[in-house]
Amino acid sequence: MPTIHVMKTTLANMIAAGEVVDRPASVIKELIENAIDAQSSIITVEVFDMGMKEIKVTDNGDGMDLEDAKLAFLRHATSKISEEEDLNHILSLGFRGEALAAIASVSKVTLKTRKEDTDGVIVVYEGGSFVSEGSTPTNIGTSVSVKDLFYNTPARFKYIKSEFAERQAIMDIFDHLALAHPEIAFSLSIDGKLLKETYGNRNIEQLIYQIYGQNLTKGLLKASDTIQKIEVNAYLISPEHSRSKKKDITLIVNGRYIKNYRLIQAVIDGYHSRIMVGKYPMAILYLDMDPSLIDVNVHPQKYEVKFVNEFVLAFLIEDIIKRTLSYNTQEISTPYQRVMKDETYIQESLFIDENVSEAISEPTHSKIPDMDYIGTFSGTYLIFQNEDGLYLVDQHAAEERIRYEYYMEAFKNPVFATKNMLFSKPLNLSPSELLVLKEEIPKFTPFGFQFNENLELISIPTWLKDGEIDLAIESMIHMILEKQTIDLSLLRDALAKDVSCKGAIKANKPLNLSEIHAVMERLKHADNPYTCPHGRPTIIKLTHYEIERMFKRVVS
Ligand SMILES: Nc1ncnc2c1ncn2[C@@H]1O[C@H](COP(=O)(O)OP(=O)(O)OP(=O)(O)O)[C@@H](O)[C@H]1O
Ligand SMILES: [Mg+2]
Repeated sequence: MPTIHVMKTTLANMIAAGEVVDRPASVIKELIENAIDAQSSIITVEVFDMGMKEIKVTDNGDGMDLEDAKLAFLRHATSKISEEEDLNHILSLGFRGEALAAIASVSKVTLKTRKEDTDGVIVVYEGGSFVSEGSTPTNIGTSVSVKDLFYNTPARFKYIKSEFAERQAIMDIFDHLALAHPEIAFSLSIDGKLLKETYGNRNIEQLIYQIYGQNLTKGLLKASDTIQKIEVNAYLISPEHSRSKKKDITLIVNGRYIKNYRLIQAVIDGYHSRIMVGKYPMAILYLDMDPSLIDVNVHPQKYEVKFVNEFVLAFLIEDIIKRTLSYNTQEISTPYQRVMKDETYIQESLFIDENVSEAISEPTHSKIPDMDYIGTFSGTYLIFQNEDGLYLVDQHAAEERIRYEYYMEAFKNPVFATKNMLFSKPLNLSPSELLVLKEEIPKFTPFGFQFNENLELISIPTWLKDGEIDLAIESMIHMILEKQTIDLSLLRDALAKDVSCKGAIKANKPLNLSEIHAVMERLKHADNPYTCPHGRPTIIKLTHYEIERMFKRVVS
């Protein structure tokens, strides 16, 4: 008698279910995706008790006849693909033929469905076993009710996190799927209360408003591009509305909401210095491409997607976002738009340097209006006025921005012209930093640094100012320590931020009129004059209206 036996289907399905449905939100995802695949134009989602009591998804799609409605519960039963070849060009969201079987194995499912010109049918499954079938009056389309989720898998049941976490996960998946399909009207209600609905009229601005519930569309930018047959439509929410998590960077590939680390990072890099440190942008990216360029058959939940040309795509996305954000003049902050952190800066001045103004490209148009200097407040804030109102410029932040762009420009090409030093320069580094330097010298040479056998500098890149050599070397060493390898674009960004910030703080004298003029001229011509590299505003505007409102001369 062999001890090994093939397990019964209900048990196999229950084991497999763990990968597909790990929480109520994943049931909702699978049911909504089935409804989308059925060409529905209206999808309603009802959730009771975090989805543990009941999840019900109703659509007005194609529907099924009785035979299909029963087959749908079998594992590996699908209408979406049939040949191996089909895996190479998947356009439907489902294709694995396992979601309904998985859900039904860990809950009690009632499916009602009706195709056009036929009668409605009902099929009931419980814990993976068929319970009953019959006819029933119902609308064209399908409704799937999932009750008592995980009732027969106590371990999973216990694993379900807090009510808050589950609710959040449910809303997140609903949001992402609704954003992915602007042509479908979605609604979500929790415990009988309607929480969100979308109109399905393809109006993305309206959709963003409906999903996020607040007006994030002010300053919304759209960027479109087609490169190598990949169509990119990016909706970029203004950097003002940053988030503390990355989840509101929504990637949609051929109508599928996906997660992809590299592409999400590309979006973050695209917004780079416009967002406060530790915050993330909000954006929705629709990518449409030939399905043979992607592989969605990576994980049962189908969030992960492999792209044939992921690096190119990431580069393209970052570039599109950067270009779009810098072409479009951001608005100057007003105190009502941005809650500023209370930060005190030491009084400092701008180190005026001919090279800096040369490095900044000639302006096409000024992004800061003409205004007259009136005075300086607290040694730090330059005050200006013009017919529109009053402006405060944080001279430290402005200097950081100017220097940052100077260094970004200087670091653009990986090979730099070098200048030899008159005397070799010993470096002011700790023993462990010297050790890293010794081992990693080849990583410094492309930047134009050369050392003698005593690890003293004998040549440096022409762009580096003498006073900033130690700072630059130190930054590079820390970059190597943190990241092991040197990513040129990250290094460039880190160095530009580090050098510009530390360089700016060093100087400490009030500005005279011609220096103020020089700062403002260079700020005007900066690529993004409105924030410092860390995302704090450089300039704040108080309009006439706002000032009059503060003095109660007008009633708002
Ligand atoms: N809402 C629906 N409307 C019409 N047909 C549906 C609906 N839900 C499921 N079906 C049918 O049932 C089949 C099985 O659904 P199931 O979700 O288990 O697998 P799938 O969608 O094919 O693949 P996956 O496991 O990747 O989701 C589908 O292929 C489809 O034919
Ligand atoms: Mg499915």
